[in-house]
Amino acid sequence: MSRKALIAANWKMFKTPAEAKAFVDAFLPLVAGHDRDEIALFPSPVLLPTVIEAAKGSNVAVGAQNIHFAEEGAYTGETSLGQLKAVGGTHTLIGHSERRQYFAETDEIVNKKLHTALKHGVVPIVCVGEVLAEREAGKTAEVLKTQVTGAFVGITPEAAAPIVIAYEPVWAIGTGKTATPEIAVDAHKIIRAQVAKLLGAEVAANVRILYGGSVKPDNATSLIGQEEIDGALVGGASLKPDSFAAIVKY
Ligand code: 13P
Repeated sequence: MSRKALIAANWKMFKTPAEAKAFVDAFLPLVAGHDRDEIALFPSPVLLPTVIEAAKGSNVAVGAQNIHFAEEGAYTGETSLGQLKAVGGTHTLIGHSERRQYFAETDEIVNKKLHTALKHGVVPIVCVGEVLAEREAGKTAEVLKTQVTGAFVGITPEAAAPIVIAYEPVWAIGTGKTATPEIAVDAHKIIRAQVAKLLGAEVAANVRILYGGSVKPDNATSLIGQEEIDGALVGGASLKPDSFAAIVKY
């Protein structure tokens, strides 16, 4: 059984609508007909309609970097799953380390968001990963198990099929310090084993676990080429069409 890789671009808080449209127009021809991997773009909310319109009918999906767990309500500055779906978004990141670090997102909030995304049929990419101090203290496995367990509270094996996990060691994000394939594979095995413990062997065998953290065209093959690594979540190197296309075609 093989898992189809997902190569995802997290644009973070970059690009205007004009820049986003120019990216998609340049990027689509570079990946036309590429169906070995799934491809998804995660722009800021204000860019979603532009990017979705520009990517319509292509092999490139579009999703949100963050969503709220409530259906609707007085949550200033937030975006609901219903709003995301109404503009054609199909995926969402959940619990990115920058959300955890700067916006106080806890495992409990991640869990609520995961439930709402699944309810709406939006593909969730749950992000986990240790900070440098935790790795240096030998706590990586404990942190990953806690994050996965917290995210999956109340999730049944039947409901879990769409879930994607992204392992993003915080010390590798935006630092140019990529995890070695060995470090990434070890972490992915810990995550997969925890999924097996919580949801059974079949869900664990099928769940896609992406690697994120300073993925570039020149290290993509050595990472995504690993049996345990089912794709990549790319920040900086996803901002230019040629660079992201080179990663997609690792
Ligand atoms: P970089 O690829 O810039 O390290 O960012 C990784 C990331 O946070 C993707 O979500």
